[in-house]
Amino acid sequence: MVNGKKSARILSAVIAVLFSSVVNAAQVNFVSGATGNDLEIFKQLAKPWEEETGNTLNIVPMPSSTTDQFAQYRLWLAAGNEDIDVYMTDVIWAPQLAGQLEDLTDAARDVVADHFPSIIESQTVDGKLVAMPFFTDAPALYYRKDLLEKYGVEPPKTWEALAATAKKVQDGEREAGNKDFWGFVFQGNAYEGLTCDALEWVKSSGGGQIVEADGTISINNENAIKALETARGWISNITPEGVLSYTEEESRGLWQTGNAAFMRNWPYAYSLGNGDDSPIKDKFDVTILPSGGGDNKSAATLGGWNLAVSRYAKNKDAAFSFVKFMSSRETQKQSALLGSKLPTVIALYDDADIAAKQPIIPRWKDVFLQAVPRPSAPTKGKYNEVSSKFWSATHEVLSGESTAPDALEVLEAELQDIKGDAW
Ligand code: GLC
Repeated sequence: MVNGKKSARILSAVIAVLFSSVVNAAQVNFVSGATGNDLEIFKQLAKPWEEETGNTLNIVPMPSSTTDQFAQYRLWLAAGNEDIDVYMTDVIWAPQLAGQLEDLTDAARDVVADHFPSIIESQTVDGKLVAMPFFTDAPALYYRKDLLEKYGVEPPKTWEALAATAKKVQDGEREAGNKDFWGFVFQGNAYEGLTCDALEWVKSSGGGQIVEADGTISINNENAIKALETARGWISNITPEGVLSYTEEESRGLWQTGNAAFMRNWPYAYSLGNGDDSPIKDKFDVTILPSGGGDNKSAATLGGWNLAVSRYAKNKDAAFSFVKFMSSRETQKQSALLGSKLPTVIALYDDADIAAKQPIIPRWKDVFLQAVPRPSAPTKGKYNEVSSKFWSATHEVLSGESTAPDALEVLEAELQDIKGDAW
């Protein structure tokens, strides 16, 4: 009887604890683009947080294209959508979405110093920290070690050398029977990815950054014209015409099946290319992107993704705790190991486990620290319009619908219009 009473008491205590954790536990709705195996990785990364807090994560999957995501998120945020708590946000969006995102300054006060100050700064708008960094991004020139060796050629340092080397390997491989082989793939679809690629061609040829840090529209110049003409020359010669509709994943598709000598892509393609099921496992390496030669330096566009809490989130406390967990040193370490994502936590560039498993990461610290930002800071709320005019003009040149001098003259006038008196 006494024992019965005791066990009933214990049972009701257990039920009370369970009940309170059920009541306090929340579901965090997290909306994220899906490139490569991102979503499986994110689910795995969040498991310890789910176990520790009793909260659950619901991932709302979005297309891989940042342009498609942005269009949807803007609508949702404008409509005050309460169904999304946390957004994964591109590095270029902060000034445009700041008004609809929570200030994370207090929640992140004890951890911000772990991250590169430049990245925290890129997510700070008028003193408000609108997103916590999750991973940063800077592209690489991927190349087939085995094939460069086979044809006795070196990784190219200039765009001119890239074209010649790509052609040589392509001719050889086609002669050897692979009719589907191509020299070089990149992101040529009309979207934000093309802005990144074309900014690299232009900047590394001495043609500036489209709109300079002081707001000057600089894109209509001789060097930029030459850079776009060079890229136009690749199409159908070393690059399939289909590249005009490629985003990151289509370029990786052709590359990873072993049908390309070179690829421009972000670090996520490194771990996937070395996956057990990959035909090019251990056959490739990465180097910095080529330059226009002479005094010009290689240019890599700065990318990266962050985690932001919506102002309309229903589960704000759980959302803050999720964002803090996902951006933490330990989670970023797992994200680097599993998906070769570049950490934003400074100390992880000296982490021996990361260096052993994903050697691209310590090698890419300087590349990302010197990466070129897109003009999202000087053009403020108008960045998306500016970028979309730039990628459209570039796409017209690549597809032969326009010449580079014509396209850039029109672009300059369009950007003047968008700017008006001031950005
Ligand atoms: C990568 C970059 C992102 C960029 C996008 C373009 O995801 O991290 O910043 O906007 O590529 O496709």
